[in-house]
Amino acid sequence: MDFSRRWSTAAPGVIPLTIADMDFAPDPAIVTALQERLRHPLVYPQPYSTSGVAQDIGDYYRRTHRVDVPVERIRIFASTAAAMYVIFDRVLEAGDEVLYFAPSYHHLPDSVTAAGGRAVPVELHPSEGFDPEKLRSRIGPRTKAVLICNPHNPTGHQFSREQLRDLVAVAAEHDLLIVANELHSRLSHDGAFVPLSSVEGVSHDRLITLSGATKSHNLSGLGGAFAFSLGESLIPRLWAELAGRLPSPSALAQTALSCAYREDSPWLRTTLDVLGGNRRMVSRQFRENLPAVRFLEPAATYFAWLDFSALRLEGDAAEVVQDACRVALLPGAEFGAPAAFARMTFASTPDTLQLALTRLIEGLSPWHS
Ligand SMILES: Cc1ncc(COP(=O)(O)O)c(C=O)c1O
Repeated sequence: MDFSRRWSTAAPGVIPLTIADMDFAPDPAIVTALQERLRHPLVYPQPYSTSGVAQDIGDYYRRTHRVDVPVERIRIFASTAAAMYVIFDRVLEAGDEVLYFAPSYHHLPDSVTAAGGRAVPVELHPSEGFDPEKLRSRIGPRTKAVLICNPHNPTGHQFSREQLRDLVAVAAEHDLLIVANELHSRLSHDGAFVPLSSVEGVSHDRLITLSGATKSHNLSGLGGAFAFSLGESLIPRLWAELAGRLPSPSALAQTALSCAYREDSPWLRTTLDVLGGNRRMVSRQFRENLPAVRFLEPAATYFAWLDFSALRLEGDAAEVVQDACRVALLPGAEFGAPAAFARMTFASTPDTLQLALTRLIEGLSPWHS
């Protein structure tokens, strides 16, 4: 697995359930589209707003979520993480504050601090979500925005429409910008993902959505992402003067993005089935064999957010687990959480996952009994 950062950097003999990508071959529909594109010169690609990618994304939102996303309100990027950095660079003054839900994928708060802002955490409960009063209590005179990751990395929490309405109400009271990172939205296990752009009463001039196919279609090595805002002012304001300075996704990444949004391919349906089976396997085995490890089945994503507190491991849980079980997890500290937490990525083949779970059960037995 020399091509994979996750596998090639793992210690010998260790199963890496760390970085967010999947051990599955790409969607054959995307492979065919890429092969077709490679028959032509790899010159600057056509304008994406008139040649397909933006139309495919707009059509997807119309078809799937009944949200009308006009092509001129869409911008495409090489990476979702890079898009967050660009947005906060454009909207924040030094010392401005941005609320985000914690624990969190580190690029969310990092994109705020890199722009000279202060990232202010608001606790996200694994099952209940957030308390609107707690969100309100963190708002101060310098608060400019709320950054939400839905579905949430690392917990796999999927915000309900009701929670999103609460968020929209709080943002409206304080005239906050909402930045919605919905990169994991097509990895919803019950299909109940609600995009913020579809929530009643949301101010479209104060909402920008980010998404892409790098997670759902396992294209992180290829890249490609997009941002849209349905308001008239935000996209021109954010992107004025930037044209030509930001790298666009390559012609190949645009081809793949287009293909991924044109339809929900059989590959995506099969992949969701495999991930659903893996999710059940993880839940059952933790429940039956490692009940002291607290874990809530994620509504979306291929992440299991594990709380090892009750085992009283000494030091960092991910380190102890790797030494005792030869399974690598991402430490809680990566997400701003205590050392007793770790994130497990369960997007491997069922056989590999089963082997990892067997190792976890056996390796943790001295602490578990
Ligand atoms: C919420 C979220 N945003 C952004 C990224 C990075 O995405 P990209 O590879 O498109 O920059 C990840 C990767 O795991 C993620 O989980």
